[in-house]
Amino acid sequence: MTWNKALVTGGAGFIGSRLVSDLMNRGCEIVVLDNLSAGRLENLEQWIGNNRFTFLKMDMLNLDTTKTALEDCDIVFHLAANPDVRIGVSDTKIDFEQNISNTYRLLEAMRNSKSCRNIVFTSSSTIYGDANIVPTPECYGPLKPISLYGASKLASEAMISGYSHLFGIRGVICRLANIVGPGSTHGVIYDLIDKLRRNSKVLQILGDGSQNKSYLYVDDCTEAILTSAEGAQDQVEIFNVGSNDTIDVLAIAEIVVGEMNLKGAEIRLTRKIADGRGWKGDVKRMLLDISKINKLGWRPKWNSRQAVRRTVKGMLDQ
Ligand SMILES: NC(=O)c1ccc[n+]([C@@H]2O[C@H](COP(=O)([O-])OP(=O)(O)OC[C@H]3O[C@@H](n4cnc5c(N)ncnc54)[C@H](O)[C@@H]3O)[C@@H](O)[C@H]2O)c1
Repeated sequence: MTWNKALVTGGAGFIGSRLVSDLMNRGCEIVVLDNLSAGRLENLEQWIGNNRFTFLKMDMLNLDTTKTALEDCDIVFHLAANPDVRIGVSDTKIDFEQNISNTYRLLEAMRNSKSCRNIVFTSSSTIYGDANIVPTPECYGPLKPISLYGASKLASEAMISGYSHLFGIRGVICRLANIVGPGSTHGVIYDLIDKLRRNSKVLQILGDGSQNKSYLYVDDCTEAILTSAEGAQDQVEIFNVGSNDTIDVLAIAEIVVGEMNLKGAEIRLTRKIADGRGWKGDVKRMLLDISKINKLGWRPKWNSRQAVRRTVKGMLDQ
């Protein structure tokens, strides 16, 4: 894929704003569509006023909005979503509306667009559910997500594939591991720091602490997204994006406690869910087989432990 003008949905968010910077640094013209529900304009501060940059505070729930944003773009990086896996347990509508319906609206806008024939989508490792092959390759199946978030990402992938084959669109799907870095507003590191700031004596961990997953630093992630977009050959191509190793929640907690100089804090495991998961829908073990994207020349610069430590330090400096 090549492009001159790109739409980035969710471009004011944690990953989106980093991706915007990478694209701006490559000389592209960029339109960001974001309703600022979770994203922040400050994340894009450095680009405001640049004649290659346009920010639209709009909601993707409105199809006309998305059509307007797509004008003259030749590619869309679709990141706008509810990114929090946990919310789906209490709010069963959010993943359907924010993830499935908005992807459908975007694809409808693309179907009617003369210029935009390329979509790059940030899917998730959660589509694999409790995979019994680890590291999990892109061809793993049957796919049985265990959360509504995972289900919504898988449904979106399927729609991208259908629209691509019917309407001459090209799709690149990046199945992301846990992406971390300063600026993230959800996830285990954010939660642990937040808890310790409120109570420096006791740190309560969801689950039994043995949840073991791959963590990737955000700069590695945006580089992988662009590598996938540039290197994809098929009409619809899927890439796993993660690190080569894992770290468990207890080890993350120890890093957080250490970096905050709170070595005396008592770490308490909640073990509310029978098999030690943090919450219903939490995948206990996740490591992606990244050999496919490696063949395009992409490698993570930092392993899971390094990514976590960099993130903790960066969050504490903010
Ligand atoms: N962070 C991770 O670990 C991770 C892992 C796998 C996949 N992903 C996916 O990557 C993408 C970005 O995630 P993130 O962590 O940067 O989250 P984020 O919440 O920081 O970014 C999402 C952005 O979308 C915007 N948005 C949400 N609903 C919108 C709507 N209806 N209209 C317009 N804008 C809307 C938000 O304001 C926010 O800026 C998401 O699709 C997420 O599912 C993230």
